[in-house]
Amino acid sequence: MNVLLEARRLEKQYKLGGGRVLHAVSDVSLQVHRGEALALVGESGCGKSSLGRTLIGLTQPTSGEVLFDGHRISGLSDHALRPWRARMQMVFQDSSAAFNPRRTVGESLAEPLRIHGRKNIRARVDDLLDQVGLARSVADRYPHEFSGGQRQRLNIARALVLGPDLLVADEPVSALDVSVQAQIVNLFRDLRASLGVACVFISHDLSVVRQMADRIAVMYLGSIVEEGDGLEVLDRPAHPYTKALLDAVPRPDRPLPPPLKGDVPSPVNPPSGCRFHTRCPIAQPKCATDRPSLQPCGVGRRVACHYPLVA
Ligand SMILES: Nc1ncnc2c1ncn2[C@@H]1O[C@H](COP(=O)(O)OP(=O)(O)OP(=O)(O)O)[C@@H](O)[C@H]1O
Ligand code: SF4
Ligand SMILES: [Mg+2]
Repeated sequence: MNVLLEARRLEKQYKLGGGRVLHAVSDVSLQVHRGEALALVGESGCGKSSLGRTLIGLTQPTSGEVLFDGHRISGLSDHALRPWRARMQMVFQDSSAAFNPRRTVGESLAEPLRIHGRKNIRARVDDLLDQVGLARSVADRYPHEFSGGQRQRLNIARALVLGPDLLVADEPVSALDVSVQAQIVNLFRDLRASLGVACVFISHDLSVVRQMADRIAVMYLGSIVEEGDGLEVLDRPAHPYTKALLDAVPRPDRPLPPPLKGDVPSPVNPPSGCRFHTRCPIAQPKCATDRPSLQPCGVGRRVACHYPLVA
């Protein structure tokens, strides 16, 4: 199989004061295939960033494991992780902090190449700038001379410098103007086509996700509640939470349906049974006691619900 990255039963907990534990990622198993774009979606605080960081070894899971290219990378020391780090890179939302303000962007892009003993560094920097749609001459300029969209292109170039197999992009367009967002989304699409780099694309914006994702995983309170082909999930949601997320997007052709009742429960004290049962419009008594696991539901789709909306 063409599995590049696999998470098995990942848990990420944060210890708070007073012996309390926050369950940021709870029993997540998922696969990322070579060259695919997988979107992680869900409301603020549902654990997307925690999961993304755990997947590429920026933080260790509390339990469970991560395999990259068939090798277990969770639990490795920083030193042992180093060769893998070059193959997985993160792109962050705030691109302004990623470059040293006192260095030209060419110098910053060259640095990891030098550290890794690569040859023909200037030619590689030129290639990178071509790939992200910037003129080669920008190598001699400083970070403050660029617009937000250009800086995000530079940030992507930086992530690509060592030729990774996987990018984890955490809200990479959220800080940008809508018109610029589309350009960066297109850039991600082009890069996947030309370089075959896989991408875990973290976003709360379903319209961005629709343009980007081969597959979608929807998270609620630290767990994946639904996963499947991008358009299938967006056009025929099987989980009531996915449907609620989609209903909350304003559309000209219909009035906004009533919002979900209540707030997202605390990840320090998550509800019993189905974690969504306190807000689910179709919850039954069983939902409060039995936790549904992710089960196959149609072709290539999994859903964690006792009463999925599509069979
Ligand atoms: N270092 C930390 N220590 C304690 N709690 C944390 C830490 N990092 C995140 N959390 C908590 O873990 C939960 C998941 O946070 P996370 O940042 O992963 O969510 P997210 O889906 O990325 O949210 P957002 O959309 O706002 O970026 C939240 O309740 C958050 O407050
Ligand atoms: S298991 Fe029950 S509460 Fe949970 S989403 Fe399905 S119907 Fe709603
Ligand atoms: Mg986040």
